[in-house]
Amino acid sequence: MENTPKWYDAHLQDYRKVAYIKSKEEYDELYNRSINDIDRFWSEQADKYLTFEKRWDSVLKYDFNTADIEWFGGGILNASYNCLDKHVDKLKNKVAYYWEGDNPAESKVVTYLELYNEVNKFAAVLLANGVKKGDRVIIYLPMIVELPVAMLACARIGAVHGVIFGGFSAESIASRIQDCGAKIVVTVDGGFRAGKPLPLKKNVDEALTRCPEVTKVIVFKHAGMDLKLDPSKEIWWHEAMADPNLPSYVKPEPMSSEDPLFILYTSGSTGKPKGVLHTHAGYLLHAAMTNRLVFDLKDDETFWCTADIGWITGHSYTVYGPLINGFTSVLFEGVPNYPGWDRYWEIVAKRKVDKFYTAPTVIRSLAREGAGWVEKHDLSSLKLLGTVGEPINPEAWRWYYHYVGRDWCPIVDTWWQTETGGQMITPLPAVAPIKPGSCSFPFFGIDPVILDPDTGEEVKYPGQEGALFIRKPWPGMARTVFGDHQRFIDTYFSRIPGMYFTGDGAKQDEDGYFWIAGRIDDVINVSGHRLGTAEVESALVLHPDVAEAAVVGFPHPIKGQGIYAFVTLNQGVAKTDELRKGLVNLVRQQIGPIATPDAIQWADALPKTRSGKIMRRLLRKISAGQIDDLGDTTTIADPSVVDTLVKGRVVLNA
Ligand code: WT7
Repeated sequence: MENTPKWYDAHLQDYRKVAYIKSKEEYDELYNRSINDIDRFWSEQADKYLTFEKRWDSVLKYDFNTADIEWFGGGILNASYNCLDKHVDKLKNKVAYYWEGDNPAESKVVTYLELYNEVNKFAAVLLANGVKKGDRVIIYLPMIVELPVAMLACARIGAVHGVIFGGFSAESIASRIQDCGAKIVVTVDGGFRAGKPLPLKKNVDEALTRCPEVTKVIVFKHAGMDLKLDPSKEIWWHEAMADPNLPSYVKPEPMSSEDPLFILYTSGSTGKPKGVLHTHAGYLLHAAMTNRLVFDLKDDETFWCTADIGWITGHSYTVYGPLINGFTSVLFEGVPNYPGWDRYWEIVAKRKVDKFYTAPTVIRSLAREGAGWVEKHDLSSLKLLGTVGEPINPEAWRWYYHYVGRDWCPIVDTWWQTETGGQMITPLPAVAPIKPGSCSFPFFGIDPVILDPDTGEEVKYPGQEGALFIRKPWPGMARTVFGDHQRFIDTYFSRIPGMYFTGDGAKQDEDGYFWIAGRIDDVINVSGHRLGTAEVESALVLHPDVAEAAVVGFPHPIKGQGIYAFVTLNQGVAKTDELRKGLVNLVRQQIGPIATPDAIQWADALPKTRSGKIMRRLLRKISAGQIDDLGDTTTIADPSVVDTLVKGRVVLNA
């Protein structure tokens, strides 16, 4: 790769003619204002992107020690109003969503007026079923139009939605319902994945055996499954919506800027997944503004973010960001390889997608199947590409750039997190050349700094790696962990007091570009999805034959990281493949298919320090096959344990 350029800028001249932000100078000027003139800068932005029923009294008040953050305090607005009512007159016939089914023969075009009508009706259904402002509503739906409808209906009446990704198990659904105290669940008979039906309602049924508090379940009929509903608490979506007594308009509930909008569960290094809470005004502004500026989206362009709405990426860039802006998006129910490995490109060509946003893991899996699938389709509508979820490796980057982006489209590698609400560090297409693997520069209002996580000192610039912190609040940041503000403080604001701790390692190069190295805590990133090693371990030790388990992430060619479990069995238990399968199933049942371990190694003992701490660093090296580089093993209580583990390493054929 000697001749590989250090950066790419084929698009720069063209983008400098059309982009909203046309140069590094313009970016610098705006960036400085966004950090140093917070009140004025953010007032202007809020005026541009949002409609308030009552204007705010103060732009920002905060205390990072108590993690109290208030943006646009005193303001009153409603998310659903900002997504729909605000532009329904002007945009009524504009497409909000091109829905593409798992089955390519199924698709739907939904206009802003149609979406508005559905949301109003479903808001009325929620009200009729006793949902009140502040109540939590769990939504467990596949990628169908009813998912944004349900979310916006909640927002309209001031209820707090908690969307659960369809790949989570009954057990995960139950613990989330219990954690947020939801009394109502919106779900579906079933979804589809690569032509096969997925019985989602069955997962809800199983979950609800442990959630007696749930008194209502609304079921959308999507897969045509012949279900018998329990008349004491379950109703069909279509029947509820057909009630002639329902009002066709529900007045948007006036919400304070800091009233909760949604909860989204995400994994951390310890304990159960946290219910990350986002509020109205700041989150909406951050989602809308980044959606427009990072993708440089114009009003007549079509946007496609391939992420499932069950993750923050879908919340911000399939629902709130695009709708607040009045953009047209694609909503795709299926998977990239069904019916063929060109499904994405078929949809891009069919809907003439202008800007396309996906994850490195997807790019790697598509690249592995060969460029022929891409070349079959006319992708000339594409003007910009994006990635998110994990660092992108140079090979995947170049493949994406060359075959999908015609050696011209800029690739915005957007670094952010569930907790940040929106994109944080990311290229803008006309600002500077793009370096593959770097997320470039901070977005407006984002004040990142790289510190030694132990001393709090800034690392040597350029080049030295440290932990990424954010110095100041930004509008889209999470406000708390639902029901556990102390955990919010402990997780994000205590590592270095007064700063937000991201959990990521990073460095800055000599040109000031940021490079994210990945998590420095016990979080693994599997195909762009976050999992706590502790969660997987807790699932494994539930098995009566398991004495102890240690889980680490290891480099995986497609997923980025895979899940590697070291399992110590109880005395006398036979180490069989059947038991291995049983453990894999147990994890799938406890967390969901996304947590399926890639490798389980039987470990008669685990390497521990003399004080009994499992030495994960060593386990990571062993799982990655870096056995010549085990580092310092002198603190280990019984060094022979390591030799045995090295010999027993499970080699995977990915
Ligand atoms: C973690 C957050 C934000 C939506 C997707 C994941 C990693 C995310 C990048 C990127 C390198 C990235 C980080 C981060 N990550 N984007 N462009 N380059 N790493 O959200 O599940 O909250 O995970 O994903 O490690 O902390 P999430």
